[in-house]
Amino acid sequence: MISIKNVKKIYSSKSGNVMAVDNVNIEIKDGEIFGVIGYSGAGKSTLIRMLNGLELPTEGTVTVADKIVSKIKGSELRKARQEISMIFQHFNLLWSRTVRENIAFPLEIAGIGKSQRMKRVDELIKLVGLEGREDSYPSQLSGGQKQRVGIARALANNPKVLLCDEATSALDPQTTDSILELLVDINKRLGLTIVLITHEMHVIRKICHRVAVMEGGKVVELGPVLDVFKNPQEEITKRFVQQVTEPEETKETIEHLLEHIPNGKVIQLGFVGEAAEQPLITNLIRNFNVTVNILQGKISQTQNGSYGTLFIHLDGADDEITKAIDYIHSQQVGVEVMTNA
Ligand SMILES: Nc1ncnc2c1ncn2[C@@H]1O[C@H](COP(=O)(O)OP(=O)(O)OP(=O)(O)O)[C@@H](O)[C@H]1O
Ligand SMILES: [Mg+2]
Repeated sequence: MISIKNVKKIYSSKSGNVMAVDNVNIEIKDGEIFGVIGYSGAGKSTLIRMLNGLELPTEGTVTVADKIVSKIKGSELRKARQEISMIFQHFNLLWSRTVRENIAFPLEIAGIGKSQRMKRVDELIKLVGLEGREDSYPSQLSGGQKQRVGIARALANNPKVLLCDEATSALDPQTTDSILELLVDINKRLGLTIVLITHEMHVIRKICHRVAVMEGGKVVELGPVLDVFKNPQEEITKRFVQQVTEPEETKETIEHLLEHIPNGKVIQLGFVGEAAEQPLITNLIRNFNVTVNILQGKISQTQNGSYGTLFIHLDGADDEITKAIDYIHSQQVGVEVMTNA
């Protein structure tokens, strides 16, 4: 669906050249939600803007839905852009137009007749959950509602690809989640390919299938979200993953707790993907003569499965505890027996 091949983008200015995107290669599949994460200045916006021809690569080729976006111009490019929509951090709505008129705008441009336009707008309003707000102006809407208008407008001409440049960065966490859920819903219902860029790992965790990490214009790591969470390779990726995994302080709290637990063993369990925490704990209690106390933990969902950490305290006879730990080892769960250092 999307192919980015040997793409470089150099901006020239009086103060010198900036290599904003440095030899990037990415293939994005049909129907995929692909995330690009990186700090400010990494080159994310430049990269995503090359996907709809808002920027031209200095070198390399960008192909979207069989069109070589980096080559075509004029009316051909405008036509291609109807299939490659975009939503923005600050919504970019028309302030003097109502919700209905904002959503109808791209349909007007595409030359769709009035009655068909109105029908389509009604469908879109339902799809993004804006019923009852049709005649409001953007200034009368919350941030989340504004972004719903942005999404409806972007979907008006049935695009194949939706590009999202920091689409939730201006929203509070709860509203962010509701917009992310809407994006997942649209992806599933319409089979739309979504490329989103963000500096928040939470956004990647919640909705992306695969992620690319960008630093200094380069893609330094790329893979399925769960794999990257489980086994981040680069320093920068580790830092991003830490945004959404168990904070170091939890481990410190548990280590502190250890001093007050005279018997048994405290174990840190790491779950990734298929391994489910619920049956494991149940089986421990059923099959071994041990008591299990859950001390602390956090399991998070990604689009490819869950991952997380659980700290448990096992108590009982030494040989039963050993058997229980052997059993946990056999279950493809990360196990670390914590000691009173
Ligand atoms: N039009 C331009 N002219 C010159 N330099 C530019 C231009 N646009 C971006 N740059 C530079 O290219 C680099 C990448 O910028 P880009 O906007 O792609 O980063 P970003 O990852 O989107 O950052 P942010 O998270 O802050 O949005 C930066 O060093 C930036 O200063
Ligand atoms: Mg940007």
